[in-house]
Amino acid sequence: MVELALPKNSRVTKGKTFKAAQGAKKVRKFQVYRWDPEGGENPRMDTYEVDLDNCGPMVLDALIKIKNEIDTTLTFRRSCREGICGSCAMNIDGTNTLACTKGIDEIKGEVKIYPLPHMPVVKDLVPDLTNFYAQHASIEPWLQTRTVEPEKEWKQSPEDREKLDGLYECILCACCSTSCPSYWWNGDRYLGPAVLLQAYRWLIDSRDEATGERLDNLEDPFRLYRCHTIMNCAKACPKGLNPAKAIAEIKKMMVERRV
Ligand code: SF4
Ligand code: SF4
Ligand code: FES
Repeated sequence: MVELALPKNSRVTKGKTFKAAQGAKKVRKFQVYRWDPEGGENPRMDTYEVDLDNCGPMVLDALIKIKNEIDTTLTFRRSCREGICGSCAMNIDGTNTLACTKGIDEIKGEVKIYPLPHMPVVKDLVPDLTNFYAQHASIEPWLQTRTVEPEKEWKQSPEDREKLDGLYECILCACCSTSCPSYWWNGDRYLGPAVLLQAYRWLIDSRDEATGERLDNLEDPFRLYRCHTIMNCAKACPKGLNPAKAIAEIKKMMVERRV
């Protein structure tokens, strides 16, 4: 389990408790981190009692129920509700994960929910991902070619296509980067596991012709080499990917091109 680290602006106090309706039989408590940019008691943990007899099975279902029926001020991101968009990433029960694929019954006792750790908080469970997205843009995540464009399409053999497995599935949820100690302390200069996995995805794409420039862009004591193989990233990834392995492969490519 990835150890819990509270968000940057954190000295959390106990907030309000919202009781379940009388007669509710299957009640679970959800403790949720609250931070309002407009002020008030900041930050605090509010407690919501949710009747699971009238709630879907996932943590995101409970959050939606809280927002719809108990407290409309609660703020969080979500879109697909099926582990594809990456927007509902948060820290649940001490682990960075997706609220829409985390079952409530996987958690014992009170369900504690925080935003992704070590990121500035916009509001409640919404982290500011501006730097994360800028870093992703910096690796130029698109196919770059130099030769004349083929008439129909850039072809790829099945073997070369297979090399993208374990990489293309990344949904950029940032669970890995925000569980990486190197990223916590140097997130302004170290690209972090998610963006480096994406960088490798383009480096090994047989159709891409900008490998040299891509490696030049990463050849830097901070951007790539702050990874110390702590492996939190691989443990955190809700899609079962291994960013640390991708980073190791980039380092290998760096060495090989010097030989
Ligand atoms: S292996 Fe590298 S990227 Fe992954 S958590 Fe450790 S330092 Fe971060
Ligand atoms: S590697 Fe996994 S944890 Fe990291 S951003 Fe991609 S899907 Fe999320
Ligand atoms: S809502 Fe899209 S991944 Fe959870």
